[in-house]
Amino acid sequence: MSLLEVAGLSKSFPAGRDLLGRRTRWTHAVHDVSFTLDPGECLAVVGESGAGKSTVGRMALRLIEADTGTIMFDGEDVRAADPARLRAMRRGMQMIFQDPHSSLDPRMSILDAVAEPLIVHSGIDRGSRTRTVTALLDKVGIGPRHLAKYPAELSGGQLQRVAIARALALKPKLIVCDEPVAALDVSVRSQVLNLLGDLQQELGLAYLFVCHDLALIEVIADRVLVMAGGRVVESGTVEQIYGDPRQEYTRKLLAAIPVPVPRSVRR
Ligand SMILES: Nc1ncnc2c1ncn2[C@@H]1O[C@H](COP(=O)(O)OP(=O)(O)OP(=O)(O)O)[C@@H](O)[C@H]1O
Ligand SMILES: [Mg+2]
Repeated sequence: MSLLEVAGLSKSFPAGRDLLGRRTRWTHAVHDVSFTLDPGECLAVVGESGAGKSTVGRMALRLIEADTGTIMFDGEDVRAADPARLRAMRRGMQMIFQDPHSSLDPRMSILDAVAEPLIVHSGIDRGSRTRTVTALLDKVGIGPRHLAKYPAELSGGQLQRVAIARALALKPKLIVCDEPVAALDVSVRSQVLNLLGDLQQELGLAYLFVCHDLALIEVIADRVLVMAGGRVVESGTVEQIYGDPRQEYTRKLLAAIPVPVPRSVRR
């Protein structure tokens, strides 16, 4: 059974109003998107800016509501879940955003940021809290001396590691990664990407990996969904998409890769 099964997902946003304030135009951000994701697998969602990638990722976790379609996570209907059930399901599905500076609360220490999901979901006591957070941070390469620090005191790469530790806290099966390295310095991108790859192997995580940069996808993804204008225009294994792209759109995306990924970071 697939971990995540998405079928016929669509979403429109109001894009304009007339003089009376009535909604007149709609952006069809996502149109009839379907895919499956197996446990432990990485499915990349690629496409130009505005293709609908983030909207798909957010709908999959029900951070925004879809207009139509079904989303099954671990055999359960995500869209039909009541708030209590959804909250329980959220333990298994987490998200990492592009910019850790805006996804982490600047007034919360690193300890508190990583502990928060543990406190909210499992009411962990103070003593084991620090121990658990220290172990989580260790997994992502952040030492205990950073526990009492605040986001402003860490680099972008360090902060994204903290965001990853926070996402791992509840032992999820799925993480939606929305451009997780795009906002980072080029020099640390491959380190964070390799970390995500290592964690995936170690913990058997599935990733829905939103990315506009095909050079990164080849390193981490098993399969690729190519989106354009809200629709899936092509999908296949990484080998198929790279070796024999069917669509002109995909060929153009591939041609836009500036430099080949160094062999050293390929797995
Ligand atoms: N909350 C919103 N309100 C109105 N329009 C939106 C909203 N979110 C997304 N859109 C529109 O939906 C379309 C798809 O947006 P989305 O953010 O999913 O694209 P994307 O592929 O993630 O792009 P990018 O690579 O720039 O992140 C765009 O036209 C966008 O302007
Ligand atoms: Mg996006």
